[in-house]
Amino acid sequence: SEGHHSVNSYKACMKFSDCYSGFVSTTMGPKDYMVSNTHCCQSDGCNQGSVPPPQNNRTENGLQCPACIVPFQETCPGTQAARCVGQETHCIYFAGRVQAGIINTRFATRGCATESACNTKPGAEVPSASYLYFLRRADCLPAPQISGRGE
Ligand SMILES: *[C@@H]1O[C@H](CO)[C@@H](O)[C@H](O)[C@H]1NC(C)=O
Repeated sequence: SEGHHSVNSYKACMKFSDCYSGFVSTTMGPKDYMVSNTHCCQSDGCNQGSVPPPQNNRTENGLQCPACIVPFQETCPGTQAARCVGQETHCIYFAGRVQAGIINTRFATRGCATESACNTKPGAEVPSASYLYFLRRADCLPAPQISGRGE
């Protein structure tokens, strides 16, 4: 469809206590979203197999969250709103540092997420494709309903 869409699979080492096995979906905007399916394991060569691709349910569920993606800064205004989809019932605010090769910079992001994203705690080191995220902030709260009018 529109925008670009990429499917990746990667294997890496990380702290077991920072690893969450299962499905995570996050949405920062109509074209800014990510779904993932992870399997964590703890023995030599245990990550040889493959993991089934995640479901990608883009049906809006009536919830919304403040949204933003800000590179190079650790705060995110959240002045836009993301409409949550599928099983996304929570609002996240993740911020910290991100390392890509020799580049190490700040990042901040807010949006909708599945409750499974609440397993990510401040202090976690989370590898993702070509990045390594160091979370300093990992807020996760139930998402409010989209209100029909102002209050
Ligand atoms: C997709 O998400 C919507 C909204 O949460 C839900 O009503 C629907 O049952 C989901 N569909 C599937 C196939 O899980």
